[in-house]
This record gives sequence, C-alpha cells and structure tokens, in this order.
Amino acid sequence: MRMYDIIEKKRNGKELTKEEINFFIDGYTNNNIPDYQISALLMAIYFQDMTAAERANLTMAMVESGDQIDLSAIEGIKVDKHSTGGVGDTTTLILAPLVASADVPLAKMSGRGLGHTGGTIDKLESVPGFHVEISNDEFINLVNKNKVAVIGQSGNLTPADKKLYSLRDVTATVNSIPLIASSIMSKKIASGADGIVLDVKTGTGAFMKNLEDAKSLAHAMVSIGNQVGRNTMAVISDMSQPLGFAIGNALEVKEAIDTLKGNGPEDLTELCLTLGSQMVVVAGKAENIKDAREILQKNLKNGKAFDKFKEFLISQGGDASVADNPELLPQASYKIELPAKTSGTVAELVANEIGTAAMMLGAGRATKESKIDLSVGIVLHKKVGDSVTEGESLLTIYSNRESVEDVIKKLHQSITIKNADVKEPSLIYDTITE
Ligand code: URA
Ligand code: CA
Repeated sequence: MRMYDIIEKKRNGKELTKEEINFFIDGYTNNNIPDYQISALLMAIYFQDMTAAERANLTMAMVESGDQIDLSAIEGIKVDKHSTGGVGDTTTLILAPLVASADVPLAKMSGRGLGHTGGTIDKLESVPGFHVEISNDEFINLVNKNKVAVIGQSGNLTPADKKLYSLRDVTATVNSIPLIASSIMSKKIASGADGIVLDVKTGTGAFMKNLEDAKSLAHAMVSIGNQVGRNTMAVISDMSQPLGFAIGNALEVKEAIDTLKGNGPEDLTELCLTLGSQMVVVAGKAENIKDAREILQKNLKNGKAFDKFKEFLISQGGDASVADNPELLPQASYKIELPAKTSGTVAELVANEIGTAAMMLGAGRATKESKIDLSVGIVLHKKVGDSVTEGESLLTIYSNRESVEDVIKKLHQSITIKNADVKEPSLIYDTITE
C-alpha cells in the first residue's frame, strides 16, 4: 500500500477501506509516514468528509494505536459521560453519585487539563484529603463496591489521536466533524466504557458555536458508538451563558452539594437529570428515559444521591463533613460584589468571557505548569432573562487579591443589560437516544 494512493483516493472523494485507514494510522503512529503526507490527507478529509463506515474504522484504528483500559472486572454495563466542554460545567460532580445511586457503575478516568476552571479531579481535590492516586485494583474494587470511583489518567491512550490533533492544530483541520467525532470517541472507547452519554454544548462558551454544527457532531458520535458496539446517546445543551451559578473549583463543589441535596440551580439540575436518565437507560437500569428520570428524581429527594456522594468522598480519603459544612472547603479572602450599572433585563452573559474572568482570578490553568487556586471564582446572581435594578449585585467575585479592576472590567464587557423583554434561552436543544 502507498500513502500517495490513499491521499489521491480521498482527494477524489472515494471511500477508504478499513485496511487503508489502519495503514495510515499505524504508519503515522510509528513515525513511518511523514507529517506532510498526513497533512494532505487531513485536508482531503476536511473537504471530502468521511462515510459512516470510514468514521467508525478511523475511530477504532485510533483506539488500537495504544493501550485500552480493561474494565471487565467490573460487574454490569459501565457507562461514561463526556462533555465537549463549557464554562462552570459542574455536571460530572453531580452525575457520578447521582447515577451511582441508581446502581449504574461509573468508572471515571479524568484528567486535569487546561481551561477556565480545573477539571473534575481538580474540583474534587478541593475536598480535604480526597485523592485520585489509587491503584487500578483499588479503582475496580471501589466501583464494584460503591458503583463510583475516579482515577487520574494513566497509560498510553490513543497516541494516534495525540499526534493527529497536534498536526490538525497547525494545518487548519481541527474543525472537521469526522475528525472531531473520531477523536473524542476514540478516547472514550479506549477508556473502557460499554456505554457512552455525550453532552454536546453549543453557544459562545462551547467548542461548537452554532446549533447545526453541534447537531452534526452529536449525530456523528452517536453513529460511531453504535457501529462499534457501544450504546451511545447524546444531549445538545446550551452554553451561551455559564451553566448554574458557580464558576470556580470549590465554588462548583458547593454548587454540586446543593444540587445533590435537591437545592441546585434549575438549569444545572435539569441537565443532570437529562444526561443521568440517558446513562441509566444505557446501563440497562431502566426501560426508558421517563422511568430513569423518576428514579433519579426520587434519589435527589430521598437523600440517596447525597449519601452516595459522601460515601464516594470517604472511600477516596476525602473529608465528607464538607457535604454538610461547605465552609470547610477552601475559602477566598475577598468577596466583591458587581453592581449593575443600569436597570433592565439581563440579555447576555457571554460564557467564554466570564470563564476568562474566572481564569484571571486563578481558577484555571493557562499552561500545564500553572497552579490552580481552588478557592476563587465567580457566583452569578442573575441569568439571562432575569430583571435587575441599578446597583443590584449581578454576581460575587471570590478573590485572593484585593484589587480586581481587570476582572471587573472584563465582566462588565461580558454582561449586557437591555431595556426590553429578553427570552430565557433554551437549555436542551435536542436529545438523541438511538
Ligand atoms: N476535542 C477532542 O478531543 N478532539 C477534537 O478533535 C476536538 C475537540
Ligand atoms: Ca456551575
């Protein structure tokens, strides 16, 4: 087989075979095919797209390029959830104990990553003592016993994706549905999940800025999952404004605790119930979405989800008393209110800009080496569609520096107040269950 012929075939809009796809993924992973030929192929894929079969074959070729996590020692159908990323997205912290309380095994591998706030692991580490440095055996035992555990990422997962992603980044080929879908799905499948639930976000704070692209990506990923034997469902949700009220690590843990007690923000609670219902169905613990949702609602009311959260914290060394006393979480030195400059209705809370403001306070990492301040962040008091009077606080800034003029300026730029009726944006645009 020659790389030249594969490039030419894709350039001409023909379908690549499984063997051809395996050839270029193996060759690239093992440094036998140069960047310039793969770059040309990526650009051909960008313009010519890939068929459903090509997408599934590309995904599995990337899965097989490295280690695969073996979760077969865990009983039941293991479900994983993936979000394409947003601002103040606290859902994993809530979903993990919530679905575990419905007997769904959740073996979560999580990274730290870059972003406006830390990843799930950083957030959980704001609970004193909580740690994810556990052995694989301990991880498996905990999931069998409690139905939920979180472990840090290890192993050489999907090296082909890592190489391809770096190359896409510098060749203007990131923004391609077949390439994004196979990239995300390869990582989930290599992590060992039997079933996958995807939260595809759309809006200013999301990777997919418009709804049509988000829908295409969601359908592409669901199709890949189901072709390769992983029951996959998806939700398309709004990320034009931050989810919930809190953006920050410890602040989001507190918000997760409130939500698990049944007192969370309406949007965050609703998204968790929607995603959680799909996870319960995928795991075979309910016949349909409606039954699944009833189980989860019940477990929020009767305290089962909250108790599961405490059990989860304790079993990984965490001080579960934070669940009853959130003031034991890291606290920032200064609380600064942001008063509205005019009266009216909140028309815009630009999610990515507010995320950047949280990052300026130290809530997120700009580079892999940056250190996170777990205590800082922002808590919104108003969301889009809410009315506000001049001088009323729009949000509270939690900071460890006294002067936050730069952050205040950024926040004022990202909030629009209008003297007109503003419709609350939809939260869930679509759900894909088959
Ligand atoms: N996130 C991924 O993991 N891969 C992509 O290609 C794009 C976003
Ligand atoms: Ca939040």
